[in-house]
Amino acid sequence: MPYVFDRLRTEATDLIAVTGLVAPESVLLTEPKANVPADLAFPVFASAKVAGVSPNDFAKRLAEAVALSPESLFSRVEPAGGFVNFSVRPDIFASAVLADVAARGDAYGEDKSVGKGETTIVEYSSPNIARKMHVGHLRSTVIGHSIYKILKALGYNVVGDNHLGDWGTQFGTLLAALDADKREPWNEPDPVQSLVEIYGEFNKAAKTDPALMDTARAWFNKLERGDPWARQTWQRLIDITMAEFERTYKRFDVVFDTQHGESFYEPMLDAVVDEAVAKGVAKVEEGGAVAVYFDDALPSCLLRKTDGATLYQTRDAATCLYRWQNYAPARNIYVVGAEQKLHFQQVFETVRRMGYTEIADRSVHISFGTVWALKRNENGNLHLDENGKPKRVKFSMREGNVVFLNQVLDEAIERSTVKVREQIASGNSEATEEEIQGIAEIVGIGTVIYADLYQGPERDIDFDWAKLLSNEGNTCVYLQYMYARCRSIQRKAPAGLPTADPSILTAPEEQTLLKQLARMPNAVRDAGEKFLPATVAEWTYTLAKEFSRFYDKCPVLTAETDELKAARLALVAATAQGLKNGLALLGIGVPERM
Ligand code: ARG
Repeated sequence: MPYVFDRLRTEATDLIAVTGLVAPESVLLTEPKANVPADLAFPVFASAKVAGVSPNDFAKRLAEAVALSPESLFSRVEPAGGFVNFSVRPDIFASAVLADVAARGDAYGEDKSVGKGETTIVEYSSPNIARKMHVGHLRSTVIGHSIYKILKALGYNVVGDNHLGDWGTQFGTLLAALDADKREPWNEPDPVQSLVEIYGEFNKAAKTDPALMDTARAWFNKLERGDPWARQTWQRLIDITMAEFERTYKRFDVVFDTQHGESFYEPMLDAVVDEAVAKGVAKVEEGGAVAVYFDDALPSCLLRKTDGATLYQTRDAATCLYRWQNYAPARNIYVVGAEQKLHFQQVFETVRRMGYTEIADRSVHISFGTVWALKRNENGNLHLDENGKPKRVKFSMREGNVVFLNQVLDEAIERSTVKVREQIASGNSEATEEEIQGIAEIVGIGTVIYADLYQGPERDIDFDWAKLLSNEGNTCVYLQYMYARCRSIQRKAPAGLPTADPSILTAPEEQTLLKQLARMPNAVRDAGEKFLPATVAEWTYTLAKEFSRFYDKCPVLTAETDELKAARLALVAATAQGLKNGLALLGIGVPERM
């Protein structure tokens, strides 16, 4: 059975069509503005023009011609200026919405018909081997994983790919460094940290001794040619780094279908460079380098260096073609920071000029902004800059202020623990001592994710713990708290209530909450169309706000009659399901108590 809102559209379309006043293909419905007391509208302007009457007269005539049956989902059809407005019948609508939510449960909001038969590639996370994962990778992981889930909910065959940075000249440097000082980072307590240090020291030494860089280049060549020690050591670097990445993915509950690192494309690189040259897209320079010139459109880029080594661009061109040839995806999505915008333009333009226009057209770079840290003093006031604006400090690996991803998560969980303890101490929480850790993890990790997803990805993030962990406003804590409150009400429900009859839920707050619930599939479809998790976040936040308005006005456990208690409990259960499903699409969990 289609969703209620879809049924409303179908019914309104049919009702208009059978009047014979409007050509069926001209029946295009819109959602009225928020201040209009109606649920669907038909703008008559085009049809009125065809009929040669004024829009107002046409709307009147059409509204009069519409006949509602006793089972109709609508109670009123009215002309309003150049529109015919349709309003839902509260009792039937309430029953239909709650039946929808109950029937679908965890799948409520999904619409598998949208992407049926189509493949979409979503590439996210993509950190670099022998490096720590930093907040840029956090954004990619969080945004990409949510897009992945949303597209799955829409029935696409989604391939989540982790494009690991496991190839390139930096591995020559690492091998040269490891060969020179015989250190064994895999036997050290923090292997990846050791690698980062070894790499840094070698680079520093190379500043005064340029011959070291030749050694590094030589090692990368050996790696490319399959030297056994080089290959084996390189594999070890991958293994120790992946062990650490896996821990992070586990904390976020993030999964991938494939983890084709850059090295995966290595066997295809020569052919790609040759093809680009043969097609006149790339040019062999004096000295053997291969370059692509884009006229004035874009700065040129290299596909091969003079020493024969390939580049990041080469590997991405190969990746793009591989994806096209293996999946023929409807969309090929890259979730990568804004600083790589030019890189992707060059890659997409290169494959386009090579004749692969389809994949060029279907490739999308979803870029995102920077993460800033805001600091507060002991009194809880924000540090300000000279213009009186909150002072932003870059969350970065390179600058002195080192923050790694796992530390951010640890801090989030630590702060959430303090918060949950405070809630318990002030009597606002039913959680027990044993539950604190589990709740703090769900809240802490959720907070980090929500800080990223509540707004569009292009926006920078201001990381301000006090605001992020606030009970009020558009925060993860607020949403999770509303869920826990629903569950608490459900737990306290008295036994022996009659079976719920939702048709009595006709109070304005009940109807507004029901309408927000009914909009979930639309929000998910919108999010999938725009690759924008913030659309789902906003829907979820609005649901929580409407729930809180309902709860203020409409007592549940102390409602006047048992019938009303039962019906409102059903609405609470549906709200809990909606909050849970919305957050799940963002990759966020919900605590049963808080
Ligand atoms: N490994 C790269 C980095 O950390 C990101 C890779 C993005 N994806 C791609 N297909 N180039 O900067």
